[in-house]
Amino acid sequence: MNILFMGPPGAGKGTQAAAVVNDFGIPHISTGDAFRLAIKQETPIGIKAKEYMDQGLLVPDDVTIGIVAERLQQSDCEKGFLLDGFPRTLSQAEALEGILSQLNTRLDHVINLKVDRDKLLARLTGRRICKDCGATYHVIFNPSKQEGVCDIDGGQLYQRSDDNEESVGKRLDEYINKTAPLLDFYESKSLLRQINGEQDIDTVSTDIVSILRG
Ligand code: AP5
Ligand code: MG
Repeated sequence: MNILFMGPPGAGKGTQAAAVVNDFGIPHISTGDAFRLAIKQETPIGIKAKEYMDQGLLVPDDVTIGIVAERLQQSDCEKGFLLDGFPRTLSQAEALEGILSQLNTRLDHVINLKVDRDKLLARLTGRRICKDCGATYHVIFNPSKQEGVCDIDGGQLYQRSDDNEESVGKRLDEYINKTAPLLDFYESKSLLRQINGEQDIDTVSTDIVSILRG
């Protein structure tokens, strides 16, 4: 099953992806995670991506599309995949169509997590992530049992450098200007399903799984 999660920054794409990839045994492809890894490893792509990410801006299409094209060709994607955070521009969406048609496959579901802008700042500034396994928490909405420590592997929790008020404002503007128009693109292909992302985490998961299993 080939799935795409859409939604503004902080909508819950990463949180929900973790549950779905476990259930369906498919790889989670997050361009944001790929860029953060490249930054950590100080690769040329990482150095370039950092300039944009620090400012809350989208990384240029040519860099981003190349990463996804390469990833989707790997053999673990043959049984399906979950894309999170790609595509985010019309050019990326068109490139994805081309990549998938070359691989003789297509998207099965596009799921949009709907959350109002006024809720997103609190979600993002309170987010904490395990530096070892990447598990995502929230200081109020989904706290770890022990403050600053991952429940799963005891790793230290950190805050993403772009989860500050200034970057979040820019990321939300980028989303509205460049990514939200893609909802029409997928609606016109009858692929788009809307989910109320303002419900608690487990209810959102149940709604998503019922679409995927339906
Ligand atoms: P990326 O890493 O994709 O960030 P994003 O889109 O801004 O989305 P987030 O990861 O911030 O939010 P999420 O929806 O995953 O929410 P989460 O589940 O963590 O991209 C980062 C940057 O990389 C971009 O700004 C750009 O520069 C670059 N980039 C990436 N892809 C690109 C592309 N295709 N093209 C160009 N540039 C690209 O949840 C957030 C918080 O809310 C957590 O604390 C969580 O615990 C909490 N939460 C989740 N669900 C709920 C709920 N139901 N109720 C209450 N709290 C909840
Ligand atoms: Mg994410």
